[in-house]
Amino acid sequence: MTNKSAIRVFDTAADVARAAAELFIETAAESTAERGALHTCLAGGSTPRAAYEMLAGKMGSRVRWPLVRFYFGDERNVPPDHPDSNYGMARRALLSRVPISDGHVYRMPGEKDAASAAREYDTLLREKLAENGNRFDLLWLGLGNDAHTASLFPETEALSLQERWCVENRVAKLDTERITLTYPLLNASRRIMFLVVGAGKAEALKTILAGPRDVARYPAQGIHPEAGELIWLVDKAAASKLPPGVAR
Ligand code: 6PG
Repeated sequence: MTNKSAIRVFDTAADVARAAAELFIETAAESTAERGALHTCLAGGSTPRAAYEMLAGKMGSRVRWPLVRFYFGDERNVPPDHPDSNYGMARRALLSRVPISDGHVYRMPGEKDAASAAREYDTLLREKLAENGNRFDLLWLGLGNDAHTASLFPETEALSLQERWCVENRVAKLDTERITLTYPLLNASRRIMFLVVGAGKAEALKTILAGPRDVARYPAQGIHPEAGELIWLVDKAAASKLPPGVAR
């Protein structure tokens, strides 16, 4: 693993999705060859859906699906069949369409109260990741237009919690509880890929990559792998406010 970062700018959102799917396939090949499994943590929201759907299609024939273990970076405090469920989105777009082992999908129990769900998931993570050096091989992340990632929202308590890998997080501005992984586990990942598309994310992306450092206000700035790779996959619209020379 090397502590590398890269920002790759693509013409369209579909190009970003394809690049993410290709990186998933590449990482799966490396991880399964080296360690016999791929431990990957999925992102929620809407951006990753197109990449998940591509992997559910022809591209997925290149993946040894029974060797893939799926985790989630965050979840809304809702049951899995709720339209807002990140698990539900991933299941519809990918997990129900590829030959994975059901026992290898580790869902955050969003139907429970957030504190219980977080405690339960924290325990599961420590059990399942012990065989993989206590880290993900590939972490998928999105970026909110307020510079949040996972459910690490600006000025929220979860940003400062270091002891646990998964916590409940009260998001006052959304008047909701979330379940989210915290920086220590996220930053232990071997490879982290952000997927960012659309002009609506341009201001946030500029601030994250070229603005003043203030993790409390811009939580995605807190993502920097200890020893792994950080790869930004962005479209031209999201990159439209980046100063010259930032994207390479
Ligand atoms: C969530 C996600 C969140 C998401 C960003 C971007 O639960 O919403 O985990 O961090 O990645 O909000 O969302 P979009 O991809 O929908 O823009």
